Amino acid sequence: MNIFKLSVLILFTGLSTGTPYSPESTKALQKRAPCTVFSNNDPTLDDAPLINAALTACGNSGTVILSASQTFTLHTPLQFEPCNHCDFQIEGSINITTAAVTAYKSTFNLTGVQGATIRSLTAQGLLDGNAVSYWYSRWDSGTWSGDPFFELANSSSITISNLSIRNVKQRFFRATNASNLSFSKLNLSVDGQWGEYPRNEAETIGFEFGYVNNISIANIDMAFRARPNHRGPTGICAAFDTGSQNIFVRDISCTGAWGGILVMIYTLGPDFKPPPSLAPPPISNITVQNLTFNGTIATGFKNYWSDLPMKNITWDGVEVLGGTPATVDVCYLRSHSVTAWVNQCRQQVNASFEDAWFRGYRGDLKDAVGPSVYANNISHVDVHAEGWANTIALLMKTGD
Ligand SMILES: *[C@@H]1O[C@H](CO)[C@@H](O)[C@H](O)[C@H]1NC(C)=O
Ligand SMILES: *[C@@H]1O[C@H](CO)[C@@H](O)[C@H](O)[C@H]1NC(C)=O
Ligand SMILES: *[C@@H]1O[C@H](CO)[C@@H](O)[C@H](O)[C@H]1NC(C)=O
Ligand SMILES: *[C@@H]1O[C@H](CO)[C@@H](O)[C@H](O)[C@H]1NC(C)=O
Ligand SMILES: *[C@@H]1O[C@H](CO)[C@@H](O)[C@H](O)[C@H]1NC(C)=O
Ligand SMILES: *[C@@H]1O[C@H](CO)[C@@H](O)[C@H](O)[C@H]1NC(C)=O
Ligand SMILES: *[C@@H]1O[C@H](CO)[C@@H](O)[C@H](O)[C@H]1NC(C)=O
Ligand SMILES: *[C@@H]1O[C@H](CO)[C@@H](O)[C@H](O)[C@H]1NC(C)=O
Ligand SMILES: *[C@@H]1O[C@H](CO)[C@@H](O)[C@H](O)[C@H]1NC(C)=O
Ligand SMILES: *[C@@H]1O[C@H](CO)[C@@H](O)[C@H](O)[C@H]1NC(C)=O
Ligand SMILES: *[C@@H]1O[C@H](CO)[C@@H](O)[C@H](O)[C@H]1NC(C)=O
Ligand SMILES: *[C@@H]1O[C@H](CO)[C@@H](O)[C@H](O)[C@H]1NC(C)=O
Repeated sequence: MNIFKLSVLILFTGLSTGTPYSPESTKALQKRAPCTVFSNNDPTLDDAPLINAALTACGNSGTVILSASQTFTLHTPLQFEPCNHCDFQIEGSINITTAAVTAYKSTFNLTGVQGATIRSLTAQGLLDGNAVSYWYSRWDSGTWSGDPFFELANSSSITISNLSIRNVKQRFFRATNASNLSFSKLNLSVDGQWGEYPRNEAETIGFEFGYVNNISIANIDMAFRARPNHRGPTGICAAFDTGSQNIFVRDISCTGAWGGILVMIYTLGPDFKPPPSLAPPPISNITVQNLTFNGTIATGFKNYWSDLPMKNITWDGVEVLGGTPATVDVCYLRSHSVTAWVNQCRQQVNASFEDAWFRGYRGDLKDAVGPSVYANNISHVDVHAEGWANTIALLMKTGD
């Protein structure tokens, strides 16, 4: 183990090995000292190789610390492949060069990672996706899937908490073929998006999932803002796509978004095909509790032309500050580029929403006492609403 420690010191300048191994250590490699990374402190230099080297040195059940009060500039992505139950602590800031924003799909590549904790012990960790000039450089977003800042593919047992993340290119977190994920205490924001425009509805997505199982999302603050002189809202706080199962969401604030916490088929794009080994299970067992929303559509289903069944999905405790509380739409197509298909979809789609509950809605509900349902007579739509109270109206009445 001393040889290993020495090699860490020699090979990875910029790393400190910190305290020696703890005496009770039985497995030397699992109890070794953390790798503390110091930034080059020069935005023209890429800090990613230093961080990736620390992941190689300490990723196997060890700890990597990005020092407080430092900014780490990435010209290339972070590769978590060496991470196996690693603890990655971001106490400083991470920034991406504008060139890297356009050059790379993802910045945190957690493809094939089994076991990772990414967090800030001080809650000071800040990740800047630095995509504002990218947004200003183009007209709008296009219709289909976007690039994720965090790519969690073929991964499991990932915990991400206590961080602020802002201005990522298109998605904060995308998880596909992933399980046992936990997201908590996150502050996600975008400032300077294009704003309201049909093709822009899915431009920014907080959480985008397909083929996932056992996910927890709690204590998340999401705020999406368009640039000055453009109207918001823009983006979706969470879109659960094909094969999303066993998801528990609670204590979410979502403002400025077109969509709140939605089941939304095909945000991942029509090319996101299930691998043959994974015949799609129903989108099922999803509970959303305590959501505060101000935007366009707080909750519900937005189904593209898909016949995949959806069942056992509950929204419970939704406060609507602005927007439509809930919709169920068996045939939702973003109209600007794909209008021609809408009628055929409405004639042919055979969707199935079963055992869907919309409970405990309050705030500015206007006259609604349940979701707005747009269905055809082929589809099977079994939705229930209870406990809807327009508390804005009540307040105004009692105030008179
Ligand atoms: C992400 O990591 C996987 C696994 O190490 C690797 O195969 C892939 O090339 C990486 N992707 C990118 C975009 O760097
Ligand atoms: C990231 O870099 C951009 C300039 O490219 C700068 O405007 C922004 O403030 C930086 N963010 C952080 C957290 O340092
Ligand atoms: C989150 O940050 C707070 C400090 O604000 C700290 O007390 C807590 O332990 C951190 N939690 C995690 C999971 O790191
Ligand atoms: C996930 O694993 C499968 C099987 O090993 C592989 O075919 C696929 O390319 C992987 N996905 C990604 C995004 O790396
Ligand atoms: C899903 O991910 C697991 C690793 O978590 C991998 O073994 C499996 O091959 C992947 N399946 C597909 C279809 O990509
Ligand atoms: C998810 O966690 C459960 C309980 O700890 C464990 O049994 C299961 O193997 C985990 N799944 C994966 C894919 O790691
Ligand atoms: C779900 O994942 C969590 C980790 O996020 C794990 O503790 C729990 O045991 C898993 N549950 C199941 C049923 O796999
Ligand atoms: C969340 O992040 C944004 C942008 O980085 C910041 O302006 C805001 O103060 C943060 N909010 C909280 C509650 O930390
Ligand atoms: C609901 O979530 C908010 C965060 O959005 C939190 O501040 C509040 O305490 C939660 N309410 C309950 C009753 O848990
Ligand atoms: C939904 O949850 C129930 C009870 O935990 C479980 O029996 C069922 O298998 C789950 N369904 C799916 C599709 O995971
Ligand atoms: C419905 O989903 C919840 C989790 O969201 C689960 O606890 C419950 O057992 C499921 N019920 C059925 C009938 O699958
Ligand atoms: C909801 O958002 C709109 C548009 O940003 C804003 O004008 C309004 O004040 C917000 N409502 C509340 C109650 O926060």
